[in-house]
Amino acid sequence: MPNPPQVTRRALMIGAGAVAAWASSPARALMLGADASALPGSVETLIGQMTLEEKAGQLTLMAAAWAGSAANALNPVQGNTNYERQLAEVERGRIGGVFNGNGAEMARQMQTAAVKRSRLKVPLIFAADVIHGFRTVFPMPLAEAGSFDPELAERTARIAAIEATAAGIDWNFAPMVDVARDQRWGRGIEGAGEDVLLGRVMAAARVRGFQGRKGLAAQDAMAACAKHFAAYGAAEGGLDYNTVDISERTLREVYFPPFEAALDAEVATIMASFNELSGIPATANPWLLTDVLRREWSFGGLVVSDYTADLELIDHGFAADAREAAKLAFLAGVDMSMQSGFYIQHLPALVEAGEVPMARLDEAVRRVLALKVKLGLFDDPFRRIDPRREKTRVRTPAHLQVAREAGRRSIVLLKNDGDLLPLPRAGQKIALIGPFAQGQRELIGPWNVYGSDAEAVDLLTGVRELVADPAQVTAVDGCGIEAPIDGGIEQAVAAAAAADIVILAIGESQRMSGEAQSRVDIGIPPAQMALAEAVAATGKPMVVLLRHGRGLVLEGAVKEAPAILATWFLGSMSGPATADVLFGVEGPSARLPVSFPHATGQQPYHYAHKNTGRPHPVGPLQEYKARYREALNVALYPFGHGLTYGRIAYGSPEGAGGTLTPGGELRLAATITNSGTHDAVEVVQLYIQDQSASITRPVRELKAFQRVALKPGESRRVEFGLKRADLTFIGQDLKPTVEPGQFRFWIAPSAQAEGASGVFELS
Ligand code: NOJ
Repeated sequence: MPNPPQVTRRALMIGAGAVAAWASSPARALMLGADASALPGSVETLIGQMTLEEKAGQLTLMAAAWAGSAANALNPVQGNTNYERQLAEVERGRIGGVFNGNGAEMARQMQTAAVKRSRLKVPLIFAADVIHGFRTVFPMPLAEAGSFDPELAERTARIAAIEATAAGIDWNFAPMVDVARDQRWGRGIEGAGEDVLLGRVMAAARVRGFQGRKGLAAQDAMAACAKHFAAYGAAEGGLDYNTVDISERTLREVYFPPFEAALDAEVATIMASFNELSGIPATANPWLLTDVLRREWSFGGLVVSDYTADLELIDHGFAADAREAAKLAFLAGVDMSMQSGFYIQHLPALVEAGEVPMARLDEAVRRVLALKVKLGLFDDPFRRIDPRREKTRVRTPAHLQVAREAGRRSIVLLKNDGDLLPLPRAGQKIALIGPFAQGQRELIGPWNVYGSDAEAVDLLTGVRELVADPAQVTAVDGCGIEAPIDGGIEQAVAAAAAADIVILAIGESQRMSGEAQSRVDIGIPPAQMALAEAVAATGKPMVVLLRHGRGLVLEGAVKEAPAILATWFLGSMSGPATADVLFGVEGPSARLPVSFPHATGQQPYHYAHKNTGRPHPVGPLQEYKARYREALNVALYPFGHGLTYGRIAYGSPEGAGGTLTPGGELRLAATITNSGTHDAVEVVQLYIQDQSASITRPVRELKAFQRVALKPGESRRVEFGLKRADLTFIGQDLKPTVEPGQFRFWIAPSAQAEGASGVFELS
């Protein structure tokens, strides 16, 4: 076989015949010899050769049928799940890409079909949901956001990309950048929580991590997809997929900024959301997808629908039938349709009938091809498909070590009365109790397609590795997650009675959060509450370890426990990471990315709420103020809260009474001291409140944060610079504005703490 000079040797070895065919194909010929500036011209020529059906095929993305309906595991089964039929569709040029497939061998076969047997030999793109790691599973994104450490988020996303690309994946349906302010909504696990600044910072970090810093053509780069555009997290009642009806101001001020941050980080693609937005489904919303995204923000990348979201326009009551649904989504700005098959079925006829302009069709095809070009697929369609790399690049000791580091840096110490934590490693008998105490289950968390609990390390193993003598530790389930076990409580009480300390591992199953897993009650399930009460009644010192996908309501013995750690779902190294924090190998340093309310009925709740005309002052309940009959509308544990093993104090504010001039910078500072006996990493947060403005402003807004390491006895001056642009809000004309006046600021350990506070003027 002749050796086509421009095709890599590795590619030849993988797809010998396929690559040869590819090398002499029209698509390849067009790309060859083209320098970067000439590339768009080559794409145009290719588009010129395509039939209407081949064009619509490029705009059609389908769940991989390789393993039957396995790729549908996290979505409703829909459409063809027969692999042979799917291959035939590829050969006919009726599919542009597949997603959630499995492995390099599948990718090799499918890519071979595309570049050897389809008429124009356009390579497929392989997409997947790689939400928090691939085979090495990292903490769920919400947990990791609590690290307040974008460098860490970038690093875990990079590793996810290294592993996923080695298995043939070019394009990741992540990061989810939806702001989530209602803990009933189960999908908060995929994002960065309730805050706009944290959302922006994490969105950018994750995009950089997935896409890498060497360009998308790098073998280990995968295109990112910021989703779900827009305001998917604002679903009424916290019910997934539900109606969203919010003002344009709130969209621009709260829900859009993380997308803008993703765009600034050069995200390659955007996914339109399932929800309707004030009457018009996002998937068919020209204002959102064209006016804002294309015209205002100049986004030049690809917009993909969510899974069957164009089909769902019919159930929304927005489209009468499939043909109309395809037309509305496509004309609004969705370039590529996921899973419904509506584009391949209806776009050719719609163009022929003159209902969809050819120019719009070509524009969308151009975006798909441009993405494939950028990813280097026209240069080497097999560049990410390598069975050897697929085996050797995953779950390496280095990757697992980062998973452990990310795990411990995502754990939030909510409470530590009497300095119960960290625990001594020797000399104490420990009873590990609860449905999350042992066993390779419920570890990696929701929304993970490629990792498995079977490959993750549980709590019991992690604890036994760290204690001086593994025989110090006994483990008892005590109950199931939602149901009692016969005799379970008795066993648990006996184990507690025989121990010096109890670690109670309770919380939510991984099926209680993630997509479609909204809850009406965000507390600990009753079977586990009964266990907690019984174990607490033994009077043994108790550390509660929460496993959860959301901000929870804590009650009774759980709320009253002397020590509580929020451990979310931490991934592959869940047990060792938790044990590291329990025994103080590394102290806790994460902060809550979402508030823990007092009661479910307070939802939606977020710290950056408005004051109202009748704010309730701190103190006992008063009449005719904005509060509930039973409780103040504050959090039990607010956004930003998290303790360390140090003893941290905030000194007096510097910069209070100052004036920020246009073009100037105001320096605000406070000295933070660790007077404890342990090292600490304190997340120092800067909040502001605009005290009077032409649009009412939140009671607090996070403007900056710093992770500051403090040795025992050490003090550090932590300084923030505030500029006029940091005080921008969306004015009455819906344009960004800044108004002079008085502002309050807090340099504080949480959104509800006073810390070092003062006022300043903007002149
Ligand atoms: C539906 C989810 O909303 C989306 O985030 C995901 O990427 C797709 N399913 C594909 O699995």
